[in-house]
Amino acid sequence: MRTNCNPLSGIGGFAALLKKELAGEPKKLQKVEKIIRGVHTLDRIAGNLLFLTRQKTIRREDVDIRIILSDVAQILESEIANHNSSIKLWLNLPEENVIVSADPELLRLIFTNLGKNAMQAIEPDKFGEVKIQLIWRLLTNRYEVTVDDNGSGISSDNIPKLFNPFFTTKHYGTGLGLALVKKAVELHQGDVAVESVIGAGSRFRVSLPIRHIPTLTDQALQTADNQNPATLPPFVAGEN
Ligand SMILES: Nc1ncnc2c1ncn2[C@@H]1O[C@H](COP(=O)(O)OP(=O)(O)O)[C@@H](O)[C@H]1O
Ligand SMILES: [Mg+2]
Repeated sequence: MRTNCNPLSGIGGFAALLKKELAGEPKKLQKVEKIIRGVHTLDRIAGNLLFLTRQKTIRREDVDIRIILSDVAQILESEIANHNSSIKLWLNLPEENVIVSADPELLRLIFTNLGKNAMQAIEPDKFGEVKIQLIWRLLTNRYEVTVDDNGSGISSDNIPKLFNPFFTTKHYGTGLGLALVKKAVELHQGDVAVESVIGAGSRFRVSLPIRHIPTLTDQALQTADNQNPATLPPFVAGEN
């Protein structure tokens, strides 16, 4: 459970108690386990919605973006293995350290969501490829990460809706992944863009500043935080 003082915690807690009492009754146990899984999903959605609506600042630290992208690649590789999928994942990183000022959890969230969407866009019988590339543009003080796939592509009607909360074309989708990506990118003063060709694939391009240059808004938020440190919720966003 990640959200506190939440009615879902009560439901989850009672379901967990019931699960203990039902040991030895497999049919009833299955039903309780469904409730527990449902509560976890709702809790994740509630956490993500809180992040979308409330989070105004991020905790920055110096991080090597190559390490973040390698972690994300590991997560995606384990998804590929779990689904017995034949998707080939490419990770293209520069040789040297690329230290950026960012919130590492949010960077992981951005690229894991983009990577999972890329994999989910590939039909099971296709020779699928997902490519994550990092380009470092020292001159502009920005770096760019692209996530490419050779999946279904996105219709031009759907492109403007992609980042809207709850927009999904998937049976089990929540439609929050790209809304979270956009919010997390914007909290870093970055941009996210998409190019896509139906039947050929898509490219999501995330451009982020390497170093953080404080803005007037940051200073105002900092002052507000100092006056009332309890106004912001703990970070709760997760993968979609
Ligand atoms: N790489 C991609 N290729 C094709 N469609 C995509 C891709 N990424 C996102 N989409 C489309 O955008 C929608 C919203 O994505 P997202 O916000 O992550 O929600 P979800 O994955 O739960 O559907 C998806 O349902 C899909 O239609
Ligand atoms: Mg998604």
